[in-house]
Amino acid sequence: HTLDRINVAIDGPAGAGKSTVARMVAQKLSYIYVDTGAMYRAVTWYLIRKGIKPEDHDNVLQTVRNMVIELIPGQEVQRVLINGEDATPHIRSLQVSGLVSQYAGIESIRTRLSHLQREMALVKGVVMDGRDIGTTVLPDAEVKIFMTASVEERALRRYKELKDKEQVSLEQLENDIAQRDHLDQNRKISPLRRAEDSILLDTTSMDIAQVVETIVSHCRSYVGGE
Ligand code: DC
Repeated sequence: HTLDRINVAIDGPAGAGKSTVARMVAQKLSYIYVDTGAMYRAVTWYLIRKGIKPEDHDNVLQTVRNMVIELIPGQEVQRVLINGEDATPHIRSLQVSGLVSQYAGIESIRTRLSHLQREMALVKGVVMDGRDIGTTVLPDAEVKIFMTASVEERALRRYKELKDKEQVSLEQLENDIAQRDHLDQNRKISPLRRAEDSILLDTTSMDIAQVVETIVSHCRSYVGGE
């Protein structure tokens, strides 16, 4: 039983530190890390660049249907290619961050990406982070974590991450995060919500190492090893 590989679903609101934590958990367990937010961001970047607006449903549908989406796992960053083009350098920009919630609410995009994400988890031994992994993408994941932190703390974490790269204020980030929470929680398809069988982890006053350790120990106790 100790050798069994499991799937780990990590969900939660924007800026809770999911990607950093999920990547480290995957490293510790020698699992594959899948950042589903990066996939939504990459598709958003591509559609913005093509000038396709979220309300232009037919055009979105056509483009997404014919899109080749590739995910290349890596130690530091996972790369996302759309039709062979590397979207990775662009997906954290303020423009993409500001619009991604709108595109992520479109059914044709969610269906396509959820399908790809399920395929990637078939092998087991996957740590996947997002908004709807435990509820919709991998409802059978063996370990489900719902990671949160206060809006102020999440804005502060993003600020530290971005302040050398972009001109942002803490206040602007707090507003952005609160607005994104609202959109993510209230959209019609797969809204952000906690799976009933998930472990709630409020990380407001925890550091990264503590969060990683907590999740890894849940995984270890699931597979019965120590
Ligand atoms: O985790 P992130 O900030 O990179 O996510 C970017 C956006 O994508 C966020 O607004 C919500 C959306 N998203 C989603 O709807 N479903 C997921 N599984 C992952 C992300």
